[in-house]
Amino acid sequence: MPKIGNIELPDFPLLLAPMEDVSDPPFRKLCKEQGADVVYTEFISSEGLIRDAAKSVIKLDIYEKERPVGIQIFGAELDSMLQAVDIVEKSNPDIIDINFGCPVKKVVSKNAGAGILRDIPLMVKLTEEIVKRTKLPVTVKTRLGWDQSSIKIVEVAERLQDVGIEAISIHGRTRVQMYKGEADWKPIAEVKNNQRMHIPVFGNGDVDTPEAAVKMRDEYGLDGAMIGRASIGYPWFFKEVKHYFKTGEHLAPPTMQERVEAARRHLQMAIDWKGEKLGVFETRRHYTNYFKGIPHFKEYRMKMVTSDDAADVFAAFDEVQEKFGDYQFA
Ligand SMILES: Cc1cc2nc3c(=O)[nH]c(=O)nc-3n(C[C@H](O)[C@H](O)[C@H](O)COP(=O)(O)O)c2cc1C
Repeated sequence: MPKIGNIELPDFPLLLAPMEDVSDPPFRKLCKEQGADVVYTEFISSEGLIRDAAKSVIKLDIYEKERPVGIQIFGAELDSMLQAVDIVEKSNPDIIDINFGCPVKKVVSKNAGAGILRDIPLMVKLTEEIVKRTKLPVTVKTRLGWDQSSIKIVEVAERLQDVGIEAISIHGRTRVQMYKGEADWKPIAEVKNNQRMHIPVFGNGDVDTPEAAVKMRDEYGLDGAMIGRASIGYPWFFKEVKHYFKTGEHLAPPTMQERVEAARRHLQMAIDWKGEKLGVFETRRHYTNYFKGIPHFKEYRMKMVTSDDAADVFAAFDEVQEKFGDYQFA
C-alpha cells in the first residue's frame, strides 16, 4: 500500500487535484465524503502569504474532516518559499505540496510553477531546502517537462526523491502543451519503472472515466490517480471509480435528489466559509456538471449562475427538484 510519509493510503488511492477556485474547503469536503483519499488545496502564492494578503491566507483554511489534506504553495524565491512553509505549518496540514506545474504565463514568467522546469537545479534546491525546513511530508506536483524536446522527468523525479520528497504527482503534459492534446502517461510509467524510485508515483491528466483509472493502475502500473476536471460539479466520480475497481460494474449515477442536496450543501458551506457574495459566485462553476444532460434546463441554470442572492439560488434548486425530480440520468 502506498504511503506519503507516515500517512497510510489504500491500494491505488484517488487524490483530488489542486484546482484554483475549485478545490476549496466545501468542495474538498464533498469529494472526501465520496471517497477521495487525499485532497489538496488550490495553489497558494508564497509571496502572497508572506505579505499576509487576505486572498492567500484564507486559502489555508482546512476542515478536520477532510484529512489527510495537503496545502499547495508556489513560488521561485527560496526565502519566500521558506517563510511560506513556516506560515503553512501553523495551519497544521498533513502534507505540504510544491507546485512545479502551473503553466499560466504570469506564474511561469517568474520561474514559478512549470517555469522552474527550465531550471532543474533550482527546482531541486528549492525542494531540498523546503524538505529541510519542515517536519511535514513534502510532495511535488509537476508536468513532464517544459516542452517535448526537454522531457527529463525520470531524472527529475529521482533527484527530487533523493532530496527527500515523499510522493510525486505528474501531469502527463508539458508546459507548452498547456491543456491541449491528450495526457501521455508513458513517461510517468517510466518514472515508476525506474528501479531507484521508492516513493509513490501518482498519475494525473485525463482520468475522466473509471476505465481510465483502471488503465492507469493496470497498464501503466502507477501508484494512484490524481483527479481534477472530472470531479468539478461531480464529486461522485471518486465513489464511481472505487465501485468499478471493486465490481467491474458502473454505479448508477446520482439521482436528482442527491444532486440537488449536494448543490445545496455545497452552496451553504461556501456561504458559511466565505460569505454570501463570494460563496454564491464561486460555487457557480459546479452547477453545469451537477445538472448535466437535463433537457430544457437553461432557464434554471441561468437563475443559478446569474443571481447574486443566495435565496434565489436555493429557490432555483427547489424548483429543479420539483420540476425534474423524476429525471433519470444516463
Ligand atoms: C480550474 C483549474 C484550476 C487548476 N488549478 C491548479 C492549481 O492551483 N494547482 C495545480 O497544481 N494544478 C492546477 N490545475 C491543474 C490540475 O491540478 C490538473 O493537473 C489538470 O487539470 C489535469 O488533470 P485532469 O485531467 O484530471 O483535470 C488546475 C486545473 C483546472 C482545470
